[in-house]
Formats: sequence, C-alpha cells, structure tokens
Amino acid sequence: MTCSPLPPDLSGTSPSHPDRSPGAVPLAARPLRQAVDWAIVSRRSVRAFLPTPVDLAEVHAILDVARHAASGMNTQPWRVHVLMGSAKERLSAAIAAVDNDADAAAALAEPYHYYPLEWVSPYVDRRRKVGWDLYGLLGIARGDKARMHAQHGRNYHFFDAPVGLIFTVSRALAAGSLLDYGMFLQSLMVAARARGLGTCPQVAFTRFHAVIHAELCIPATEMVVCGMGLGHADPARIENTLVTERESVESFTTYHA
Ligand SMILES: Cc1cc2nc3c(=O)[nH]c(=O)nc-3n(C[C@H](O)[C@H](O)[C@H](O)COP(=O)(O)O)c2cc1C
Repeated sequence: MTCSPLPPDLSGTSPSHPDRSPGAVPLAARPLRQAVDWAIVSRRSVRAFLPTPVDLAEVHAILDVARHAASGMNTQPWRVHVLMGSAKERLSAAIAAVDNDADAAAALAEPYHYYPLEWVSPYVDRRRKVGWDLYGLLGIARGDKARMHAQHGRNYHFFDAPVGLIFTVSRALAAGSLLDYGMFLQSLMVAARARGLGTCPQVAFTRFHAVIHAELCIPATEMVVCGMGLGHADPARIENTLVTERESVESFTTYHA
C-alpha cells in the first residue's frame, strides 16, 4: 500500500452531506482508497499538543462525520462533552487535585472494567512494551515513580490539547453499546486525522468519573466511557515519535473455505 505523507486534498467534498447511496463513490476509486487508508494507517496517539486553537466549527464538523458510525439497531449511544478554555482547565485542575492526593486517589473506583483484572499473555506483554517504549523515549527509568506519575498525570490535562472531549453512555444500555462507541471513536479519530488534527483516546479519565460528573453536571444515569485530547500534534516532542507495532493479518486470521 502507498501512503501519502501529507493529508490528501479532500477539498470539494462535503463530508457533512455526502452522497450516502450505497453504490456511490464520491471520489475516483483510487484516490478515495488512498485517502481512507492514509487516515487510518497514519493515525497515532498524540501525547503532546501545540497550543494552536481548533475552531469549534471544525470540532462540530468532525463530530458530524463521526455520528455516521454504525451502531446496533441504530441506537447511537454516544454523548459528547466538548471542553475548551476555562471549562477544560477547571476539569483538569479538579482531577489533578484528586490524582495528587494519594488517599483520595486510592478511594476511586472505575465505572466499568476497561482492562481485565488479571492480565495474561500476549496482552500483558504488549501492554508492557508500549509502556516501556513510551517511558524509554521520555528517559523515564523503571522505578522512577515520581516521573511516571507526572507523565501519567499529563492525561488529565489532555496532554495540553486545546480541546478535551469526554464521552458518556447511558447506564440503561448494555456491553454492545461500548462496541458501538468504539466505532464512533475510531470514526472521530480518522475524521480528525483527515483534517490534519491529532487525537489521543484516554481511558485514564474513567477512574475520575465522580469528579467529572460533578464538574460537568452529568446525570447519574450516564457513565463516563473515556476522554480524548484533540488538536495539533507538536512535532518537536519526543513522545509523538512513538510508533506502536501491530501483529500481521496472518497472526489473527483463520481463513475457512
Ligand atoms: C479506548 C482507548 C483508551 C486509551 N487510553 C489511553 C490513555 O488513557 N492514555 C494514553 O496515553 N493512551 C491511551 N490509549 C492509547 C493507546 O495506548 C494506543 O492506542 C496504543 O498504544 C496504540 O498506539 P497508537 O494509538 O499510537 O496506534 C487508549 C487507546 C484506546 C483505544
């Protein structure tokens, strides 16, 4: 596959109002395929953003694309809180205050288990690798708990992204809605990528759901799914050079004929 190093020129298309008829291909097939593949394959988690603001209209346009994600029975379980400016700063400060208070942080409970309680191979190995690769790039030694805590704490400032997103789902729904949510989040990240914007999905926020509920007046009927930083990646920052590995198609696919 050839991946262009620059975002493809999608001007002239209107992502908010595409021709959604099943047979229609809005661009010539090859550029369309390249554009879609490029946006998916070149997306990375961005952990250092520039202060360059992002227009609210652009955030809206990205959400306007992402809302077309598939969901079981078209339930569309996503609910999004867009935080900018002082609202974002207030939430970050409230979470950081709890995160930096060992007793308060120990009392936190997740609204749902994103990760298993007991890790097994190969998942635990992949988890460790990405963690040590990131800390290695940042020069954080194993056992340097203070620097690890500080780096982890950058999550709660959305890695300095100008836009912070908090995603919630109704507690009346079931596990399948989290599957739907994944479709929505990936669509959002790919749409952002196609506009030259970076993202970092952040489950780190879920532990602080009580703080988030209070700060954003989220009703108890909703559950925090995760957060996300959105903005322009800082190309000078070493953490943004992290490239994670993927297993080959053969390693996870069984063909039956
Ligand atoms: C739902 C979800 C939650 C995540 N939560 C965090 C997080 O809290 N903090 C973080 O730094 N990265 C987080 N990540 C990013 C993953 O570490 C990253 O996607 C993975 O290492 C693959 O790297 P890539 O996104 O650069 O391809 C999350 C990813 C997903 C999909």
